[in-house]
Amino acid sequence: MAKAKTTAFFCKECGYESAKWAGQCPACKQWNTMVEEPTAPRTGSSSSPRRSPLIKSAPARLSDISVEEKDRVTTGYRELDQVLGGGVVAGSLVLVGGDPGIGKSTLLLQVCRNLAAVGQKVLYISGEESLKQIKLRANRIGQMTGDLKFLCETSLDNIQEIISQEKPGIVIIDSIQTMYREEISSAPGSVSQVRESTNLLMQIAKGEGITIFIVGHVTKEGVVAGPRVLEHMVDTVLYFEGDRHASYRILRGVKNRFGSTNEIGVFEMREQGLAEVENPSEFMLSGRPEGASGAVVACAMEGTRPILLEVQALVTQSNLGIPRRTAAGTDPNRVNLLMAVLEKRCRYEMSRYDAYVNIAGGMKMNEPALDLSIIMALVSSLKDRPVDEKTIVFGEVGLSGEVRAVSMAEQRVNEAIKLGFEACILPQICLDKMRQTKKIRLIGVSNVREAIGYL
Ligand code: TYD
Ligand code: MG
Repeated sequence: MAKAKTTAFFCKECGYESAKWAGQCPACKQWNTMVEEPTAPRTGSSSSPRRSPLIKSAPARLSDISVEEKDRVTTGYRELDQVLGGGVVAGSLVLVGGDPGIGKSTLLLQVCRNLAAVGQKVLYISGEESLKQIKLRANRIGQMTGDLKFLCETSLDNIQEIISQEKPGIVIIDSIQTMYREEISSAPGSVSQVRESTNLLMQIAKGEGITIFIVGHVTKEGVVAGPRVLEHMVDTVLYFEGDRHASYRILRGVKNRFGSTNEIGVFEMREQGLAEVENPSEFMLSGRPEGASGAVVACAMEGTRPILLEVQALVTQSNLGIPRRTAAGTDPNRVNLLMAVLEKRCRYEMSRYDAYVNIAGGMKMNEPALDLSIIMALVSSLKDRPVDEKTIVFGEVGLSGEVRAVSMAEQRVNEAIKLGFEACILPQICLDKMRQTKKIRLIGVSNVREAIGYL
């Protein structure tokens, strides 16, 4: 009799399962991510059944299901609530991913504090830090009140038991890569462990109506499975990102079964933990040099939220055969393309110059609406003529030098008004569709040359 196969190959990035090894994952096209692991037991041979008895399977009418407003709980942070779609939904499974050290544990501990303070029963389970370490972190954050308990445990079977005894309303699992189930023979952090552990957590969440936050580290290399493996299983996926050298952090909603995605929340890492940044534009523009050439304020959209930021360019005479072009915070190919447009359509000899483009503050933005700002910054630096500091610029630039429409122009203009800007250079097509306003001077342009004329 043929021996049943007990192992398979899994992609560490996306969890794709295959019977054969491959150098490149057929699903997510990443190289060297396939690892051999034992497959999860599929038969009912193990002691705990795969289907949890917690889930009562009986058909129900929509009218019989009650949804109350109080099913959404505010986390105490407006920025986080917004990303979650207006608070956290009871019984949902939320994945918080991010690079190690970015502040996931800190954020969730602060959320625990807020939720416990309003009467929620919270259980924080850490597989990474000792109770002492958690206490030290908590001391930095401040007073903890209410029904908030901590547990150091990595066995999910034990955790399941403790949850059913304690009956908390909110559970934090920090992190999924340290958790394991006894019935699976592979090591914690492997694809099958991470997948099966999440499966069990989902059953607990849905069965008992407990909200579970799962922390997942993003891993570039190594044997640990990344959070993308479990993205499809959870209700909400949030990524916590930011530059290690900058203090602000961005929480980005990537998937949300209970709200819109692409929303962001902005936080700042301080000595006493994370603080909300209520007005990111102001934060991004702080410390802006006045009257310097090569700096232009642009407006990018993050989801439905406009953010003003400064685009900087430095154009200098090149001493090399092939001029240097670098771009930090934006796509270098896009910058090359825009320089080619300047060369061909506006007759600037860009090939004689090195050019460096930077989005100040360490933000990463690839929105086409930044095109016109990048062009203005380049020309401003080339001619050494500053752009008026009370002016913002946005618009997409096409290959023939035309300025094309961008989405949500009105929101962008309103953000500029809110921050006291006096003029706005924008695509003519957007201006035609907009209501007139006296609060800001709107300058419509239909090609790059017109825009440069305002320098
Ligand atoms: P942490 O939440 O442990 O990161 P993660 O759980 O994502 O791995 O964050 C650790 C970093 O945050 C660490 O570099 C120290 C910094 N930090 C502060 O700057 N202020 C604080 O109050 C706290 C608690 C941490
Ligand atoms: Mg941590």
